[in-house]
Amino acid sequence: MTVLITKTLALSSFLPHKTLNPKKTNQCQCSFQDSIQIPTLQSNKQTERDLQFDAGDSFFRHESAVGRDLGVLAASLYKKSNGTLRVLDAMCGCGVRSLRYLVQAEADFVWANDANEECKGTILSNFENGGGVLESEGRWVVTHSDANRIMAECYLKRDFFDLIDIDSFGSNSSFFRSAYDSLKLDGLLYVTSTDGFSSGGHRPHHSLASYGAYVRPMPYSNEVGLRMLIGGAVRDASVLGYHVSPLFSYYSYHGPVFRVMLLVNRGKLPENRHYGFISYCNQCGNSQTISWGDLGKICCPCSNGEVSRSLVVSGPLWTGPLHDTNYVTEMLNLAKQWRWAGAGTVTGLDLEKLLEKMIGESDPKLPFGYIKLDQVAKRAKINSPPLGVMITSLIKEGYAATRSHIASNAIKTNCPMTRCIKIARELQQL
Ligand SMILES: C[S@@+](CC[C@H](N)C(=O)[O-])C[C@H]1O[C@@H](n2cnc3c(N)ncnc32)[C@H](O)[C@@H]1O
Ligand SMILES: [Zn+2]
Repeated sequence: MTVLITKTLALSSFLPHKTLNPKKTNQCQCSFQDSIQIPTLQSNKQTERDLQFDAGDSFFRHESAVGRDLGVLAASLYKKSNGTLRVLDAMCGCGVRSLRYLVQAEADFVWANDANEECKGTILSNFENGGGVLESEGRWVVTHSDANRIMAECYLKRDFFDLIDIDSFGSNSSFFRSAYDSLKLDGLLYVTSTDGFSSGGHRPHHSLASYGAYVRPMPYSNEVGLRMLIGGAVRDASVLGYHVSPLFSYYSYHGPVFRVMLLVNRGKLPENRHYGFISYCNQCGNSQTISWGDLGKICCPCSNGEVSRSLVVSGPLWTGPLHDTNYVTEMLNLAKQWRWAGAGTVTGLDLEKLLEKMIGESDPKLPFGYIKLDQVAKRAKINSPPLGVMITSLIKEGYAATRSHIASNAIKTNCPMTRCIKIARELQQL
């Protein structure tokens, strides 16, 4: 079987799962004028939210469908409120995201790029056959270049995007600055990290290099992964005079994958910039936010003013809310309207429940991190209290408390660990 594709394809030895290093490869940026015939890639038919496409030989994970759902919902909200939507899908793989932005979010234009030239036949076929969006409509282009190069060239041509989606591997933060430069003001930047080692505190020098955060092992490391990513984005934005804030943040255990949708604007950082250090005490289980001014006086209440050897400190990273309440509520309403709420994806994950948890987590009264109930039970020397009962009791006591979308048996609360232990013991007695 053959398909028509573009330009002279010196089929590269580039593997889909490797990050391109432009200094070490000779990838050309292709247009598709000079058609030649090459064999199609392995067929790998998929369906996502009623759209059919072929993943071919590209790097594709059906578990990422939820991340794509969230991106498409945000893109559609943007189009509805701004009237236009120009998207750069900078690492498009087989082009499923691009296709979904075109068809479901009704993007006016999508630039689909992937360094791996071998994806080309699959992407073109997905647009034309899967989505029925013909090249002659002028709503998309496909290129095969390094993402940074595409964004730098667009910036130089003053060709700006409303939404840039960078679905990268590892802890690649080298795309932030060129993305900010090629994004419209009030634009959306959707970024990814898959570096679970760094968020787990196992490579502090690596997280320092990538995101400017020295991350140490903490019991809520998967939330730290999101905060490390947002913090790195905040830092790089401020260098260029931009101000970013997270609209939603999503952790998924497969991979693991950390995804954040950022709203990017010009302007001064607000006084309360939510960018600082956090600490966890291995002795008493207490967590604290540490302001820059207090860096020299860090100690845990359990150590009576003495140096706390049990304290672990990470940062600087994002310490503010992970999501914007109004925004995530709008996403949920749109998901219901599209009948996407409920367990509709191949992953079986319930989008409605996920967005509801995110709404709960977005309460500005909630600090970073979460408390695992088995930790409370272990410290209290009791059986673990039921999650719902514990949340209700905390709220009755005047604390903010909700579920975490990251850990199923954990609560996000502003109640200190010592008080949680007391409440759990009282519940046990009842
Ligand atoms: C996680 S996959 C993308 C999956 C796709 N977005 C989806 O939702 O199915 C990452 C892609 O990035 C591409 N890639 C890696 N480094 C790149 C770079 N520097 N510039 C552009 N693409 C790159 C890889 O070829 C791979 O297809
Ligand atoms: Zn302590």
